[in-house]
Amino acid sequence: MAEPLPIAVLISGTGSNLKAILDCITEGNLNVCVKGVIASRPEAKGLQYANDLHIPTLSLNKDIYQDPLQADSVILTTLQEWGVDYVVMAGYMRKVTPLLLNAFPDRVVNLHPSLLPSFKGAHAIYDAFDAGVKVTGVTVHFANEEYDKGPIIAQEPVRIEEQDTLESLEKKIHAVEHELYPRVLAQLAAGALYIGEDRKVHHG
Ligand code: GRF
Repeated sequence: MAEPLPIAVLISGTGSNLKAILDCITEGNLNVCVKGVIASRPEAKGLQYANDLHIPTLSLNKDIYQDPLQADSVILTTLQEWGVDYVVMAGYMRKVTPLLLNAFPDRVVNLHPSLLPSFKGAHAIYDAFDAGVKVTGVTVHFANEEYDKGPIIAQEPVRIEEQDTLESLEKKIHAVEHELYPRVLAQLAAGALYIGEDRKVHHG
């Protein structure tokens, strides 16, 4: 078995996806090592999951994000100290700057709760529900300078049924996220994905 893939997870809120990743690792189903967790808000609930496992954390606050480059410079120094190969955004509500993207080319991944390119932005689940679409879903993609627009790694559909409410749809989306994100990380850890000259993600 290869060495576990060293990653950092970036969060802003509840961290249920961080928890799903940590649970898979604990259960021996994911060959990944979370070297640290970075939160854009000191009160991010998800920090507790890292603390419980004695995983190093870095908490930032809105003052430092007034200069996004300064925030990313602090983040970059920390990531380099932790020695990570991939930066995994899981509900991280700040945009990453070229400073970070250039330091980790095609190694910053993001999770988005819609089938991109539909419903970009911070309210994707609500926007899909409000639009009355019958199928939405979850996307994992590499991040680039354009918000929610980098090469798509994986997508899973979620049907919106007649009886669904916004709350029930959110639950269905999160359940799919918690399964899809660890699965993609396993593929990255196995070196099973690459970006071709067409800038599309391929398996092999
Ligand atoms: C997820 O729905 C993710 O797709 C979106 O933010 C949410 C984060 O949830 N970007 P959590 O903090 O992992 O619980």
